[in-house]
Amino acid sequence: MNIAMISSEALPFSKSGGLADVVYSLSKALKGLRQNVAIIVPFYQASLAKGIDAEKVAEFDVRMSWRDQRTTLYKAVADGILYYLVANDYYFRRERMYGYMDDGERFAFFALAASEALRHLEWKPDVVHVHDWQSAIVPTLVSENYYNDDAYKGIRFVLTIHNPAFKGMLDRYFLTDFFNLPDHLFDIGKVRFEGMFSTLKSGIVYSDLITTVSPTHREELLTRDGGQGLDGVLEYRRDDFVGILNGIDYGEWNPEKDTRIAKTYGKETLEEGKHLNQSDLLKAYGLHWYGGPVYGIVSRLTWQKGIDILLPEARSILSKGGNFVLLGSGEYELEQRFEELRSQYPDTCGIYIGYNDALAHKIYAGSDFFMMPSLFEPCGLSQMISQRYGTLPIVRMTGGLADTVHPYDGMITGNEDGLAFRDYNVEGLDYAVYRAEELYRNQEGYYKVARAAMGRDHSWRTSARGYLAEYKKLLARK
Ligand code: ADP
Ligand code: GLC
Repeated sequence: MNIAMISSEALPFSKSGGLADVVYSLSKALKGLRQNVAIIVPFYQASLAKGIDAEKVAEFDVRMSWRDQRTTLYKAVADGILYYLVANDYYFRRERMYGYMDDGERFAFFALAASEALRHLEWKPDVVHVHDWQSAIVPTLVSENYYNDDAYKGIRFVLTIHNPAFKGMLDRYFLTDFFNLPDHLFDIGKVRFEGMFSTLKSGIVYSDLITTVSPTHREELLTRDGGQGLDGVLEYRRDDFVGILNGIDYGEWNPEKDTRIAKTYGKETLEEGKHLNQSDLLKAYGLHWYGGPVYGIVSRLTWQKGIDILLPEARSILSKGGNFVLLGSGEYELEQRFEELRSQYPDTCGIYIGYNDALAHKIYAGSDFFMMPSLFEPCGLSQMISQRYGTLPIVRMTGGLADTVHPYDGMITGNEDGLAFRDYNVEGLDYAVYRAEELYRNQEGYYKVARAAMGRDHSWRTSARGYLAEYKKLLARK
């Protein structure tokens, strides 16, 4: 089968969060199942700087309102996967991937260029798999604008919702002005969402199959409370909506072979590995250890991640003599509040604002507990990475966190692999931390639970088979 992924980010070229990991690892796993896979991504300045060995495949114009944007399509192979990079200096030769006033227009361009790129691939795709709001409009574009074109006949579309909070809200005039789509699509409601035009909603209406990244998040999205406004349209597509749990890349995240940590370790050598990596982590942050547990977090700093309840809890941990280390970036105000915390506890609290792969590995390996008190979490990769490193995640029972963490709640039966709470408030998180401290005082129990966590299978094998089975069902449909 020929599968083309379209995404705004994918490793190894670009990453801001789990989307980049998932598009890359799913593609690699599908290749392992002997499928042809190509990934279409923007050619960002940062990827350019990596000096990719890319070959020019095509050049074409994309009409953007009254302007024509020259587009160059490149092809590159990385880790055995075929990539198509969409280059345009005006939109993508910028410092960051997102966060510009004209992001709506930038990704409108990307979706238009990617739709056009589909005809230049090495093979005709059977399935086009789009991800999140940035590419969700592609099924609409192809269905409405290319329905007479043989190069697109028979293609099946899959949309994966990784983050339902971002809906690609655009002004109505984008429909005709940028996308060359008929204006009545707005009036009949196919692309309208809360009075605006939403690329994500359009994707839900036009795709043959919609998926999200965990079974629990699928159920949440179908409810009024957890649906983030999408429950109505998803209910209408209920029969074509499935939840498939993400995996993690076992090549990248393997404590036995990790070259970025001070000491590699496995289940049998967990105690020694944890000890040495913890010293190394504290040293990297210039911190002192007073005998308490080390709590770590690697995260985008946004309201989704439960940062507002984490801040008071981190203060409480530090006041009891524990260590707290953070790696993250995002909302300026949240970054500042963590900086303040560090200034109050300079020898036990470590804050690194920014993006840093090597440091992320050190935190996963060197912490005792990993904090993930998310308000909502479609899947979450960090809790699974932590488990693989024998670091117990402290999570809120939501979305994929509920599907991957079996919490310790005072009794060790052999099945526990983390800690959890339900209610989104500081008391809830405080309860989970109380359980974490209790477990930490019983070192034998702690290591038993940590070993169980390390033994979980979070590889992509099962999930990739799940996607492939769904693609096959689509192709069998008339
Ligand atoms: P999300 O996609 O919502 O950000 P996930 O848990 O699915 O959350 O994936 C986050 C991924 O991004 C993990 O691999 C995590 O280690 C990584 N990550 C997040 N922030 C940083 C950072 N500041 N530096 C390095 N890696 C980061
Ligand atoms: C999104 C979600 C996260 C998920 C990731 C990859 O960023 O916030 O929960 O793991 O996508 O699917």
